[in-house]
Amino acid sequence: MTPKKIVIMDGDGIGPEVNRQAVAVLKAMADKVGLKLSLEPVLVGGAAIDQAGSALPEESLKKAQASDAVLLGAVGGPKWDKLELSQRPERGILKTRSELALFANLRPAKIYGDLVDASTLKREVVQGTDLMVIRELTGDIYYGQPRGISGAKGQRKALNSMVYSEHEIERIVRMGFEIARKRRKKLCSVDKSNVLEVSVLWREISSAMAAQYPEVELSHMLVDNAAMQLVRAPRSFDTIVTGNMFGDILSDEASMLTGSIGMLPSASLGERYALYEPIHGSAPDIAGKDLANPLAAILSVGMMFRYTFNMPEAEIQIENAVERALSKYRTGDILTPGATRVGTQQMGEQVLAELAALPRPLAPTPMA
Ligand code: IPM
Ligand code: MG
Repeated sequence: MTPKKIVIMDGDGIGPEVNRQAVAVLKAMADKVGLKLSLEPVLVGGAAIDQAGSALPEESLKKAQASDAVLLGAVGGPKWDKLELSQRPERGILKTRSELALFANLRPAKIYGDLVDASTLKREVVQGTDLMVIRELTGDIYYGQPRGISGAKGQRKALNSMVYSEHEIERIVRMGFEIARKRRKKLCSVDKSNVLEVSVLWREISSAMAAQYPEVELSHMLVDNAAMQLVRAPRSFDTIVTGNMFGDILSDEASMLTGSIGMLPSASLGERYALYEPIHGSAPDIAGKDLANPLAAILSVGMMFRYTFNMPEAEIQIENAVERALSKYRTGDILTPGATRVGTQQMGEQVLAELAALPRPLAPTPMA
């Protein structure tokens, strides 16, 4: 069997330390299921700016384009905050997403075990939350042209363009239907169709597609209302499909239902490539201090087993191992009374220990 090529992009801040734990879990699970890996570390973000002069050096992109999957940590930090937007570390992620055509970003938010008390929201509100935000990732105001700042100082104007084509809307909403039908069969499409033409088109296209998925119940919600309903009645959501910018915001909001942004993994998928990353940022304030929660990165590896290796059983085992580790040990961001506080490294080790104690996952199964 040819080894699976996994490109490791550590990036900045807590990226390297959470990735170290995620890679340990990746290796352990690969061993368990008899998968051979070839790991290729490459530069991205601020680290790449410092060492190679660009947030996504050509070599990093080439290797990503030759990979089976990419595992990304996080990018950015105060050191590079003064750079012009087009030169910033974030461009490294944005360019990777667009160059690899990773149009679908899956961000599941569910509550592990008794983490319910780590949420800032009331137990009775968040208990039982299990939702999936599907965020379009290669279009919208993030990439729309024209863009820029023009004019003389004092009279400058700044412009960004929200753009979606029918094709882009169709393929992400289709992903929404396909995922919803394997979940609780409820798809909520989020837009701002009372104000934006982009959203009017989005709603028209998504509505027309509903006939192809009679088993899925489609609803539409305005984004401001969705932001409210997420904290009012999170259990009312199953699968949410939305554009790039709304998805960026709503997925951070959804993370707080689960106790911490340090818990949310993601998968970015296209026709050909896949990238896995925690949804959190580089958290420069806690970087290098062994304080970061590695679970979002570890759970991202879980998603890699499901979506790239077609081994959902392996993902479930990683989730189980995380759940068991959490019953005794917590990083600072999710600490509750009675639990033992541990650092990044030890949290990772606890997951590995739990994983070792679980039986070998079943052989590869067709994608669930
Ligand atoms: C995310 C992040 C990125 C985004 C940043 C780092 C460019 O917030 O993945 O959600 O806005 O997409
Ligand atoms: Mg974000």
